[in-house]
Amino acid sequence: MALRKIRLEGDPILSKKCNPVKEMTPHLVELAHDMLDTMYDANGVGLAAPQVGVLRRIVVIDVYDGNGPHYLINPKIVEKDGEQTGQEGCLSVPNKVGTVTRPNHVICEAYDLDMKPYTLEGEGLLARAICHELDHLDGIMYTSKVEGDLMEVTYDGDDEEGEGEE
Ligand code: NI
Repeated sequence: MALRKIRLEGDPILSKKCNPVKEMTPHLVELAHDMLDTMYDANGVGLAAPQVGVLRRIVVIDVYDGNGPHYLINPKIVEKDGEQTGQEGCLSVPNKVGTVTRPNHVICEAYDLDMKPYTLEGEGLLARAICHELDHLDGIMYTSKVEGDLMEVTYDGDDEEGEGEE
């Protein structure tokens, strides 16, 4: 396992559509583990493969609710309802947040690292993280959905953790 370099907004790879995973290989399992390490290291709640420069439909999410981490391979949202409006951040857009409206509840179908299908149901922050990360797989940044302006995040101290950046 290792940390990977997080690509920042403006990097053309972040606006590309990712390809599905046809077969899980040791190489892709290592990528998924590295993505999780990279996400934890950056105090994020989600990370998508293009954010580390790989155009594959792989996402990792952990909203620290005791049920994670979640590995989502070829994820698809099959149901969404409700609405939530709140602040969102992204590890590819450091130290900024913006207001985004998302569904409050989603049902997502995905494959795990063994390519076994499973369903992940999310409410609140988990629903927001699922929507945000799946957007990355289609080259969509949350900044294109922000209502109003992006805001700078200020920290009280060096050890302060960031908001739920994805
Ligand atoms: Ni993001």
